[in-house]
Amino acid sequence: MTVPAPLGLLAELTHACPLHCAYCSNPLELVARTDELSTSDWLAVIAAAAALGVAQVHLSGGEPLRRADLPEIAAGCADRGVYTNLITSGVGLSAERLAALPVDHAQLSVQDADPAGAARISGTRAWDHKLAAARVVKAAGLPLTVNVVLHRHNIDRVDTLVALAERMGADRLELAHTQYYGWAQRNRSWLLPTAAQVRAADAAVAGAARRLAGRMEVLYVSPDLHTGTPKPCMGGWGRQQLTVAPNGDVLPCPVARVLPDLPVDNVRDRPLPAIWYDSQGFNRFRGTDWMAPPCRGCPRREVDFGGCRCQAYQFTGDAGATDPVCRLSPHRPLVDAVLATAVLATAVPAVDAPDVAPEYRRRF
Ligand code: SF4
Ligand code: FES
Repeated sequence: MTVPAPLGLLAELTHACPLHCAYCSNPLELVARTDELSTSDWLAVIAAAAALGVAQVHLSGGEPLRRADLPEIAAGCADRGVYTNLITSGVGLSAERLAALPVDHAQLSVQDADPAGAARISGTRAWDHKLAAARVVKAAGLPLTVNVVLHRHNIDRVDTLVALAERMGADRLELAHTQYYGWAQRNRSWLLPTAAQVRAADAAVAGAARRLAGRMEVLYVSPDLHTGTPKPCMGGWGRQQLTVAPNGDVLPCPVARVLPDLPVDNVRDRPLPAIWYDSQGFNRFRGTDWMAPPCRGCPRREVDFGGCRCQAYQFTGDAGATDPVCRLSPHRPLVDAVLATAVLATAVPAVDAPDVAPEYRRRF
């Protein structure tokens, strides 16, 4: 098959973060600061990515503002003419810092519609920082996306979350159901919404999208566990996106380290084009030849690419299996069993629900 050039690079500059969100999809084993790529390493990665054809770089983490050299890295993106998106918690984003960052867009995370709920899920009192960060982004004239990860403890407040995004002046609101990887997978039984909660949220989001059409884009990432429709994860393995982890590991998706047999190359050892085009890791699930039934022969195989490899591995132990969220997968009962636990868990009144135990929060 002809391998297309990548479109987007997720640059995970650091795993360090002032927030400790229970839904974080960063790996349980976070990269130590002493193992992070240097400034010159990152500038070389960005130059190589742009030469490969990457048009968008997402400066992410952790919290990218934790890197003192963020202005130089962002300038490296601007020099190469790539569209640069700053993905931030907002903590530490002052007008002065933003003025030194030649980025094209900012994506700000919001954890809940009120300070107490946000502090509960993130383990940090960051509410005022977020409101201030939104003002700073808008004052700088940058487009602002507000991103909210939905889970059992905030999903009933979609309307208030939408109102908050409007007050913040968001150009775009992403309401994305939790992806159960890393810390989120560990906390899955605490985070999973019930089917009734999801139905109510679906309706609330659809209503908001209609009301705000032409003023604020409302993007909804459906819960694939509930819908039974696999997501085209990363737009297809090794098809559009690559991730460079803080230590220079190059991954087809941010979570791919969970796959035990996947060879992972590092930018310190191998040029980025060779990793993208020729590495075993990127070629492992490219295209459709690797698929087994029911994906093989399914009319949706070039729509969802068999779903998510990491989710398939987490549920079945086989990264080459059909994503078990799919209604056609023989492993679908494993997903239904997990969803049944959400119903049981919400039998506990929310006010008495145990908070996330400290060992279940990322701290870094
Ligand atoms: Fe997608 Fe495979 Fe399910 Fe078909 S069988 S819908 S290709 S995951
Ligand atoms: Fe790794 Fe979906 S998260 S392929």
